[in-house]
Amino acid sequence: MSIRSQILLAASAVAAVLAVAPAQAEDAVKIGLILPMTGGQASTGKQIDNAIKLYMQQHGDTVAGKKIEIILKDDGALPDKTKTAAQELIVNDKVNFIAGFGVTPAALAAAPLATQGKIPEVVMAAGTSIITERSPYIVRTSFTLAQSSTIIGDWAAKNGIKKVATLTSDYAPGNDALTFFKQNFTAGGGEIVEEVKVPLANPDFAPFLQRMKDAKPDAVFVFVPAGQGGNFMKQYAERGLDKAGIKVIGPGDVMDDDLLNGMGDAALGTVTAHLYSAAHPSAMNKEFVAAYKKAFNSRPGFMAVSGYDGIHLIYEALKKTGGKTDGDELIAAMKGMKWESPRGPISIDPETRDIVQNIYIRKVEKVDGELYNVEFATFEAVKDSGKTKK
Ligand code: PHB
Repeated sequence: MSIRSQILLAASAVAAVLAVAPAQAEDAVKIGLILPMTGGQASTGKQIDNAIKLYMQQHGDTVAGKKIEIILKDDGALPDKTKTAAQELIVNDKVNFIAGFGVTPAALAAAPLATQGKIPEVVMAAGTSIITERSPYIVRTSFTLAQSSTIIGDWAAKNGIKKVATLTSDYAPGNDALTFFKQNFTAGGGEIVEEVKVPLANPDFAPFLQRMKDAKPDAVFVFVPAGQGGNFMKQYAERGLDKAGIKVIGPGDVMDDDLLNGMGDAALGTVTAHLYSAAHPSAMNKEFVAAYKKAFNSRPGFMAVSGYDGIHLIYEALKKTGGKTDGDELIAAMKGMKWESPRGPISIDPETRDIVQNIYIRKVEKVDGELYNVEFATFEAVKDSGKTKK
């Protein structure tokens, strides 16, 4: 073969590769999933990763003719790592979505990158109200602390709880929980007798619990993020707060179904307000809990459901755009979306891009020898009330 025809052949081979490569890229939709898979918040990462795997097993990995590819990165819930991971995913991997975000600082760190890249950021865990205000590309399928803390504040004031000591994790969602609980509880006539804030990383609750016991409240209001409830309840029982008749109340994070069954009888009677209970009595939830237990040998908690709904939202948005991955079109498709989740009916508020969901008041009871949050009152279609007033 002449040099000339060899060059022509090589050139046409390159052209063929170039012609095929973009076609393959167009056929895949890439989701960059950033989660804490190690460190103190690892249970959140595990639950969300599991739930996404389960959803994809149940619904297949192709939507609107596109193959869904998940690229998982562990940020250890450290916002600097979140930012690096998001940058790599957007620039190198050319992802079409970023998703996950186990804590508020992680969700906030990625927000400017979502805006610059015009890429949807699907928040599946973090719960501070301001998050969705940080980028027009943020959509949330988890919850806000305002949703649950206002409701437990009203409930406590109306149910004979007069004096409360508060214990909250010292970062943004803990401050939201405290602010919104206080607002509603004191408006209903309740009094705060002690306020303590504990560090987010590896908290030792014992010294704070002694102070709270000495303040002799009717109840302690507790917000700790998912994963820390087991350790909190252990120290609460060791310090004898249960024996002293001091109840635990709060948003349901402290009673995460993932850990609840290991907490022992000290947890019995705990009343919390939250978005999800593994005991939610719908057919869909029964199937979800059974499938999750079968696949992962553990009970799904509220983070698992938030991840399951997050991937559902991505699938449904892609169906609506016919597989197109333009960020603005995807966000428009997500706004106002409504569906039934294992937690109950939910929707995405078209104005704030935040989740609208039922909040249930639940009490820990023993059912067939296991501890569950048994729902006994429902507040329907609760929006986030914690946004900056405009
Ligand atoms: C948060 O960091 O926003 C966060 C994490 C875990 C929770 C709630 C809020 O359970």
